[in-house]
Amino acid sequence: MLALSERGKKRLAYGFWRFTADQVDQAIAMIELMRAKGIDHLDTADVYGGASGFGGAEKLLGAVRAKAPKLLDGAMIATKAGVEFGTPYNSSPAYLKAACEASLQRLGMQRVDLFYIHRPDLLAHPAEVAGVLDDLVREGKIAAVGVSNYTVAEVAALKRFLKAPLVAHQIEFSAGHIEPLFDGTLDQAMAEDIAVAAWSPLARGALAENGTTALMAVRAALAKLAAAHDVSSNAIAIAFLLAHPAAVTPILGTTNPARAIECIDALKVELSRRDWYDIVEAARGERMP
Ligand SMILES: NC(=O)c1ccc[n+]([C@@H]2O[C@H](COP(=O)([O-])OP(=O)(O)OC[C@H]3O[C@@H](n4cnc5c(N)ncnc54)[C@H](OP(=O)(O)O)[C@@H]3O)[C@@H](O)[C@H]2O)c1
Repeated sequence: MLALSERGKKRLAYGFWRFTADQVDQAIAMIELMRAKGIDHLDTADVYGGASGFGGAEKLLGAVRAKAPKLLDGAMIATKAGVEFGTPYNSSPAYLKAACEASLQRLGMQRVDLFYIHRPDLLAHPAEVAGVLDDLVREGKIAAVGVSNYTVAEVAALKRFLKAPLVAHQIEFSAGHIEPLFDGTLDQAMAEDIAVAAWSPLARGALAENGTTALMAVRAALAKLAAAHDVSSNAIAIAFLLAHPAAVTPILGTTNPARAIECIDALKVELSRRDWYDIVEAARGERMP
């Protein structure tokens, strides 16, 4: 189930950051759409839930499970812990253990499929973090371990102590945020066989034709390729991520079914090297050297 890093396979995930606890019917409709398109990887976090507060998005998935029990069969549910409102980060063993228990309760699960440290806690020694993650695996509370928003050095430090495989790194990566191409994150993922989950793959809507004045050159490059490939700019933005040789899973975040279908069209798009570098050069604001 967690062969997330298998090379050459195009995968998408769907994320629940933009949902509140009460949007059960809307969530069911989106999950039905995703699963009909073969998308089984669902991403949430304990902090997601917007106005419904901490735990809201996990409660939502728990409510989806209660209302449509078959819908989540065989799905891979990833959640995250370690962001504590007001602290702001806490990866102490006691906090993470309690957070994992609370997530399981809200999700209505015995074991979470993929458990991420949401953001690095600079006050937590990596041996301590590795220890609690290994305990959670051993106790059967989590099936696999991931991290999110770690630097290359932070991943290396954690891996030095972690006995369980580190299967995924969730990072901000989009045509509007290309730093992972150059800061070693994707190279480390390939070298260490760590799957990459790309958050905000549409730069939170800023890549859309009607987006803000920022990223104008990127939007123009995407629009030109969209016309050439007969798909939307959003599909090209997702295809850009799928084309990278690391095993990148863009996490779709749109709550609009038509837009989601546009994004899923990316699975059909084959960008040439020239197409791909056009986007990179637009994002860099200059030609490759
Ligand atoms: N690990 C982390 O720290 C972290 C951080 C952020 C997110 N995430 C994960 O990544 C997932 C996706 O993030 P995201 O939601 O920011 O993804 P995204 O795909 O970059 O952004 C989706 C947003 O862009 C809007 N949008 C897209 N195209 C648009 C268009 N053409 N016109 C107007 N609005 C448009 C969508 O509005 P509509 O809903 O109206 O389509 C939605 O609000 C989250 O659900 C979460 O699971 C993780």
